Amino acid sequence: MPAPSVLGTAPLPALPHWEETPAELPAAIRQIKAALRARIAASGRTVEEVFAVVEQQIKTEVDEITAARERGETIWPVIDYSDIEAGTVAAEALALLRRRGCLVVRGHFDREQALAWDRDIVDYVEGNKFFENYRGPGDDFFGSVGSKPEIYPIYWSPAQMQARQDDRMAQVQGFLNSLWKHESEGVQWFDPDGDSLYPDRIRRRPEGADSAGLGTHLDPGTLDLWMTAGYQKAFRHLFDGTVEQHDPWDAAYRTAGPQYPGTTMCSAFRTFQGWTALSDMGHDQGVLHTVPIVGAMAYLMLRPLLADVPDDDMCGVTVNQVFPANDKWHPLLMQALSGIPDVQAGDSVWWHCDMIHSVAPVQNQQGWGNVMYIPAAPWCPRNEHYAANVREAFVTGSSPSDFPTEHYERTWTNRFQPDDLNDTGRRGLPYASLRDHDARHP
Ligand SMILES: [Fe+2]
Repeated sequence: MPAPSVLGTAPLPALPHWEETPAELPAAIRQIKAALRARIAASGRTVEEVFAVVEQQIKTEVDEITAARERGETIWPVIDYSDIEAGTVAAEALALLRRRGCLVVRGHFDREQALAWDRDIVDYVEGNKFFENYRGPGDDFFGSVGSKPEIYPIYWSPAQMQARQDDRMAQVQGFLNSLWKHESEGVQWFDPDGDSLYPDRIRRRPEGADSAGLGTHLDPGTLDLWMTAGYQKAFRHLFDGTVEQHDPWDAAYRTAGPQYPGTTMCSAFRTFQGWTALSDMGHDQGVLHTVPIVGAMAYLMLRPLLADVPDDDMCGVTVNQVFPANDKWHPLLMQALSGIPDVQAGDSVWWHCDMIHSVAPVQNQQGWGNVMYIPAAPWCPRNEHYAANVREAFVTGSSPSDFPTEHYERTWTNRFQPDDLNDTGRRGLPYASLRDHDARHP
């Protein structure tokens, strides 16, 4: 489709923006949708035309995924850790990873190491009487899983910290970060070689468990994705008539801006979300699924602007709830939903931060389903800002501020200590700041 000739000849109308959650949500949604439509129209293209470009790109990917599935192929890219470490990942594997936006790293950690970490976590929580003191789900998102803790609100076990600061973790995070464009327009948006050790929880789902799973959703934000100045710039090509130039791997304008608060928010910029398997898991045992199309976000961002969506509705996206993806508004995308292959303890699983994902339901689960959530969250202004909270939480054994205020570990004396940090750990949780903390709180 030719680029419209009007581009560059007249400035496009500016967008209203809200750097904090708007007080009147329906009114703000009506206002931003009208403004986005007007801006696209001023570029010389219609919303329908722009959406059709994205829809065609997505359709090509969906058809390719459907055909691969029919051929019996594994949809998720799989790469051996040894190839990442040696820099010998094949060009075709890299191309598939760029297209699908998700990855299983085989042998990321030695299987025995992962199983030992799993045992260490059990010792850590049992030794500290976690189950006796468990007060029930601390949030209303994972809370729907059940009354027994499958998600442990535990952040500072030696096992988790050892994995976060391990050289092999840094290798994989650096490899994944390198898929992104981290420098453009004279700005370094993030540092691909340093990670901020974003602390997250543990999932341990026992043998025999029944779980309803989690529906298809996204984690990068909610209405802020359309309404803050930063995200409006990050998604600029979708809204200014240059949709062909939209690049899901461009970090520009994503690594500093604010986010609307909510129980499911992530304050960090994550290039990839991820977890490390602490048990073997069969592909049909309630595992992670994604819509493995890295361009799907463009579809999700433009879909609410079409005429069949009510003016005060963003296809169900609202603050303080996860961003839903579903058959009602996104049936094309849902056709591509694909689960991970069988994984072993020590493998890790990664998905682009804007990717639709879900956890399949399971009945009478065979084997355990245990993971440590460890993403790739490279150094950038946004992660530096959050790191101040993380350091404080680390030193005091608190729940980090992105999570419910449960603070189970504050009185647990055998949690990971500042002296146990290696160089990677000290870069992620800057040591000087920890010393300052000790000086202030002797
Ligand atoms: Fe999620």
